[in-house]
Order: sequence, then C-alpha cells, then structure tokens
Amino acid sequence: MSKKQRILTGITTSGIPHLGNLSGAILPAINASNDEHTSSFLFLADYHSLIKNLDPSLTHDSSFEIAACWLACGLNPEKVTFYRQSDIPHIFELTWILSCLSAKGLLNRAHAYKAAVAENETVGSKDLDKGITMGLFNYPVLMAADILMFNANIVPVGQDQKQHIEMTRDIATRFNHHYGDIFTIPEALIDDEKGVLPGLDGQKMSKSYKNVIPVFTETDSLRKAVMKIKTNSKEPGEPKDTENCTIFKIYKSFSNSEEINQLALKYKEGIAWGEAKEILFQKLEDNLSGYKSEYTKIIGDRAHVEETLVLGSKKALEVSLPLIEQVRKAVGIKGFAKL
Ligand code: TRP
Repeated sequence: MSKKQRILTGITTSGIPHLGNLSGAILPAINASNDEHTSSFLFLADYHSLIKNLDPSLTHDSSFEIAACWLACGLNPEKVTFYRQSDIPHIFELTWILSCLSAKGLLNRAHAYKAAVAENETVGSKDLDKGITMGLFNYPVLMAADILMFNANIVPVGQDQKQHIEMTRDIATRFNHHYGDIFTIPEALIDDEKGVLPGLDGQKMSKSYKNVIPVFTETDSLRKAVMKIKTNSKEPGEPKDTENCTIFKIYKSFSNSEEINQLALKYKEGIAWGEAKEILFQKLEDNLSGYKSEYTKIIGDRAHVEETLVLGSKKALEVSLPLIEQVRKAVGIKGFAKL
C-alpha cells in the first residue's frame, strides 16, 4: 500500500519538440512528477526514433534537443528518473524475451503497421509489406519492454498510443501466466481533453504529418506557423464555430476558463481569422517565452545535459538490473554452477 505508484512515459526523439509534445506529454508528465505519492520515470525513446529516421545527426540532435526541452519545461532530475532508453541495455534484452511471447497476430493488428499495409494497398503495390521494416512491426514490443522493465503502474500517453498499452498488458499477462508473476500490468492514462492538439492542417499535430508548431522557435517563425493554420472561408463578421476550430483548440489548452470564454464570445461576434490567429500567437508567445529562455541557457551547456542523463540512467539501472536478473532466471537463462 505504501509503495509509490510508478508513472512512466517516453517521447520518441525525432524532429524538434513541438507544441503537441508540450501539451500532450511533457507538461502533464512534469506536473505528475510533483505528486509525492508517485515516482516518475521519464525517458528519451531514442531507439524508437530509428524507425522513422535513419539520419544519424538528426537522431543525435533530436535526442539532445528533447532532453533540453524537458529540462527547460521544469523537469527536476532529482525528483524524476530521467534517462535515455539507449543507456539501459536491459530494455533491449527484455524486448527479445517479450517478442518470443508475443503473438505475431497481435502485432499484425497494430494501427501503425496496418496503416502502412493499407497505404501499400491503396497505391496498388504487389508486395503489401513494401517498405515496412521489422522496426515498425516490432515497435509495440520495444514499447512494452520500456514499460515492463520498470514495472510501471501508470503510463500517460496520447490516444494514438492506447493500443500499445493494451498490447503491453497482453504481453505481460502472457509472460506472468507462463513464468510466474513478475510484471506489473500497467494502465494507460489518456488525457483526451488536452492531450491531442490539432496541427496546422487540423489533423493531430505530429511530426509525421509535418503540421507542427515548434515550441522553441524565433518569434517570427512562431508567428508564421500560427498564420499558416488552416481555417474555413468564413468572412469577418460571420459567427464562427469553436467546436472544430484548430485555433480555438490550441488556444484552449494554454488558457484559463475566463480567457477561453472571452475568445468563444469573439467567435460568436464574428472575429476575423487573422485576428483570432493574432490572439493565439500572443498567447503562445507569452506562455512559451519562459521556457524558451531556459532552453537557450540549457542548450549552451551540453556537458550538463549529458551528466544529468548519465545520473538518471544510473538510477534507472538500479531498477532494471534486479528485474532483468529475475526475468532471466524465470525463463531459464542462468549460470550452470549455482542455483
Ligand atoms: N511510442 C511513444 C510515442 O510515440 C513513445 C514511447 C516509447 C513511449 N516508449 C514508450 C511512451 C513507453 C510511453 C511508454 O509517443
């Protein structure tokens, strides 16, 4: 009972951190880490990033930039176990063990894999697996290992990751059933309200859709990005709908209820899209300026970021080592001389 709930989440280190990462993952994770009844494990899923990106310098830079971003947003490495996935070799060992228990049929049903197959179907490719790597296919197993390696209770993720947590639960249950109760069955924590931000084109903000608003950008490019947000063709003076409006949705996730009501009123009164964008831009500029100046400081000190992550990985290894030893024993991988 007295054991703290363990919260774990990761962020794939591809591309630069964007507003969707901030509101969907980084800020909620940092907030949760301040709760004394929980202990937080936050990590850079740098090996996950290879699935989408094979450019070494991009891989390296993104990892650094995202680490700096989390620190700039207020992550306290003394309170949180903050580490790089790649610094914990036990995760990859566990990935193999889990893949030997994961039904291929389960992974065939993963959304990302199915979408890639569907895309091949659409373009009339003879080979439905064309261009699909084993990395993409196995992605959910690596993610299961990330989570189970630390016996996480709660995994805050975006709606799009829900299926991966369900698969993790499946795989863990199968393992426990076969080898004995070793893994905690994790729960997904999905923040529907604020979690998923729409991007410039109204689809989910995502690096893969190239529709993101960057967080740590110059004022000019922040304005440019906001001005690019797609709207409908309603004229100034015509009442506008807040429901499916990208500008409104983004504004909402960075504002208090009074500000939200005020903007909703302006929509009713027929605010021009240009003005709505200007309001959103100002809001973001104000909210992000503190993070931006911290970020600038942090990226100037690479050694400090490295040191922070190395310390984090030491803490993480204190948990992963005894657990992987238990797992090895459970599956029958152990020395011949001793029990
Ligand atoms: N797949 C997650 C994403 O793209 C990132 C991730 C990797 C993750 N491993 C994880 C999230 C483990 C939570 C737990 O958003």
